[in-house]
Amino acid sequence: MSDRSGPALSRRALLAGGAGLALAASLPPSARAHEGSHGAEFRLLAAPGEAALAGASRPATPVWAYNGAVPGPGIRVRQGERVRVVVENRLPEETTVHWHGLRVPNPMDGVPHLTQAPIRPGESFTYEFACEDAGTFWYHPHQRSHAQVGRGLSGPFIVEEREPYPVDRDVTWMLGDWRLLKDGSVSDDFGNLHDVSHAGRIGNTVTVNGTVAQAFEVRRGERIRLRLVNAANARIFGLEFEGHAPWIVALDGHPVEPHVPEDGRVVIGPAMRVDLVIDMTGLPGGRSKVTDAFYKGLEYRLLDLAYAGERLREPRETAVLPLPANPVREPDLSSAQRHDVVLAGGMMGTMAGAMVHGEMTDVRAMLRQGLVWAMNGVAATGHVHEPMATLAHGSSHILAIKNETEWWHPMHLHGHTFRVLGRDGVPTRRREWQDTVLVAPRERVEIAFLADNPGDWMFHCHVLEHQAGGMMGSIRVA
Ligand code: C2O
Ligand code: CU
Repeated sequence: MSDRSGPALSRRALLAGGAGLALAASLPPSARAHEGSHGAEFRLLAAPGEAALAGASRPATPVWAYNGAVPGPGIRVRQGERVRVVVENRLPEETTVHWHGLRVPNPMDGVPHLTQAPIRPGESFTYEFACEDAGTFWYHPHQRSHAQVGRGLSGPFIVEEREPYPVDRDVTWMLGDWRLLKDGSVSDDFGNLHDVSHAGRIGNTVTVNGTVAQAFEVRRGERIRLRLVNAANARIFGLEFEGHAPWIVALDGHPVEPHVPEDGRVVIGPAMRVDLVIDMTGLPGGRSKVTDAFYKGLEYRLLDLAYAGERLREPRETAVLPLPANPVREPDLSSAQRHDVVLAGGMMGTMAGAMVHGEMTDVRAMLRQGLVWAMNGVAATGHVHEPMATLAHGSSHILAIKNETEWWHPMHLHGHTFRVLGRDGVPTRRREWQDTVLVAPRERVEIAFLADNPGDWMFHCHVLEHQAGGMMGSIRVA
């Protein structure tokens, strides 16, 4: 197994030749077609395209894109609104779209073979659902997602609160991570065993809204809601805002008691979202670094907050308000049933083998099939499997996740939002609602939810190469 480029190293090389002051791109315009009789209507056309990821002076990158844009167009609706999204597939292979974090009815969940037939090249599929929860969500393919997301397919999905939240600007940063070759193309070594068995496909080029950005313009006195979406296959971000104290107001779209992270670092695992409120307290003309310091020794500057010459006002002293709660139903912990979920495998693991297609298979034979991981002793090869558990509709459940590996796993449950109850036996301070929980090497995390959405739902690691390497399963609510 060859050692691929480490995180962030060649990003610097790439930047060295780059232009001076590339501003962080704003998102492409919304894909909203019109207000139809079914609610807001959107069209997404998935097709090969090109993107100037590192600025116009660098070779363009052949990508796969929605509506020709990377990231795809923002879908923005109001809470309670119904949406209808027509997805047309002009890729050379089958696809689907999953609405990550949105609690949609099962047939709209976008999981190939499990909830729908994949959309064949040249065909379309219409997704239709109501957006019950306000917040920051995103969309991406669920078919061969490690390759399709890695080539550029993903976009933000924002559901606005019924009452506007008081900020001066509402900004979304889709964080992307690409593995680019010297000629600017995306390396096509998707799903190689090294990535699958280690930390996943960590790239060498980090983008904000589809470009390697140098600066994001702000003004003294502005209060900005910054919606961060981690659309990377595998990279975990740990963002530090030099001289600023960002308040976390939502996680995975759902309100959390506003707080400034203890160490000032905002950690976002793959697929996760964090909504920040940041008061721009710098001086006109000043600059502050935003650094990604997650991987020790591989810290890099993501971009600068660049203050324009004019202030908006003196920075506000008013408190950061909590967002209104979403209509997620509380699990009943007194009656909750407990399920153990053991994550095993990967490099430096001790797993001897796992069930593959119902047969006990040793690690060597698993490797030959590209399988490296298991959940509760089963390595999944596709999206359809025997459910890990069947939960009665309306009952409450605790998943006790035990990470017996040396790697990080952002575990994502479809169709539901769960409370994170505790880590390594210590109750969490804020019992945050999440749809994806980042589990550290060897950590135990307990989550709880009310099984109120019937259907078969994926539960998988969102390091997309880990998912491809067997770390997925499903849970049935019936
Ligand atoms: Cu965002 Cu099953 O995925
Ligand atoms: Cu994983």
